[in-house]
Amino acid sequence: MVIETFNLTKQYAGQGGCRDVTITVAPGQVFGFLGPNGAGKSTLVKTLVGLLHPTSGKALVLGKSLGSRESRSKIGFLPEQFRYHEWLSGRELLAFHGQLYQMEPKEIRLRIPEVLEVVGLRGAEDKKVGSYSKGMQQRIGIACALMNKPRLIFLDEPTSALDPLGRREVRKIIQNLKEQGTTVFLNSHLLSEVEMVCDHVAIINKGKIVTSGMLNELLGKKLQVRLEVAGLTPALLEELSKLGTVKERQENILWIDVDSKEKLPLLTRRIIEGGGQLYALQSQQHSLEDLFIKIVEEER
Ligand SMILES: Nc1ncnc2c1ncn2[C@@H]1O[C@H](COP(=O)(O)OP(=O)(O)OP(=O)(O)O)[C@@H](O)[C@H]1O
Ligand SMILES: [Mg+2]
Repeated sequence: MVIETFNLTKQYAGQGGCRDVTITVAPGQVFGFLGPNGAGKSTLVKTLVGLLHPTSGKALVLGKSLGSRESRSKIGFLPEQFRYHEWLSGRELLAFHGQLYQMEPKEIRLRIPEVLEVVGLRGAEDKKVGSYSKGMQQRIGIACALMNKPRLIFLDEPTSALDPLGRREVRKIIQNLKEQGTTVFLNSHLLSEVEMVCDHVAIINKGKIVTSGMLNELLGKKLQVRLEVAGLTPALLEELSKLGTVKERQENILWIDVDSKEKLPLLTRRIIEGGGQLYALQSQQHSLEDLFIKIVEEER
């Protein structure tokens, strides 16, 4: 396993932070770590990269205990709300990070153009970081985290400052990293994005993990179906409600949740047999957003 935690707890003066976190992240996984503001996401990441000392519990990162030099040299980290040295140029900042990773000068020189290319900042490397736009700063942050060709990279909200195009580029970067076998630990609020790139997700709320699993399994086979039906009599409605849970009805529009796609042909048959006229049937899987809101609201 790339990350294994056992009841890992980090509290600030006895409160906040994260509690009893037990998770495993397998090699090559893109692991989405979700939770509302203040849930404990950044605390866990900072603890895993060795910036915070755990209050209790244990964890192994790349097979080593937290904060070990050996594992840190193979980890990349993009912190949230980072502020880099504004007076340095992009190139100088990258070189500085290369030095922190104890890379050889030649290796640093060769790596800089590569990471600039990956994050789409070629041509901006000699401008001062202080003059970069928010999105450019986020990109240079990702570039810094990639300098050492990490085996495991932590990205704490890597797209919060990016425009839709930039977000798509970061998705591509994550997909490329995955193809190269890098494990990605992604903290994010952008659920649609997480849905697109992650294969495993965990949700944290008020410091505790409330759900964890493969994305497909968590979202399940349930479908939300929207029907447009004329001639919806009470008898027909009753027949349809035997096939799923009727969520809402507005005149000819009916929303019904069914537990598998096998129910779709049955729905159409019942409508026709019941004398209704079917104008439209649209079905979609429950989204991660539905799951997230359900879990977080239940906890309230
Ligand atoms: N340095 C600190 N001192 C005291 N409390 C802290 C500190 N950092 C975080 N906390 C508290 O710990 C809890 C978790 O914070 P954390 O930053 O880990 O949340 P998060 O999930 O990353 O939130 P966000 O989505 O807003 O980034 C919060 O209640 C926060 O107030
Ligand atoms: Mg955070």
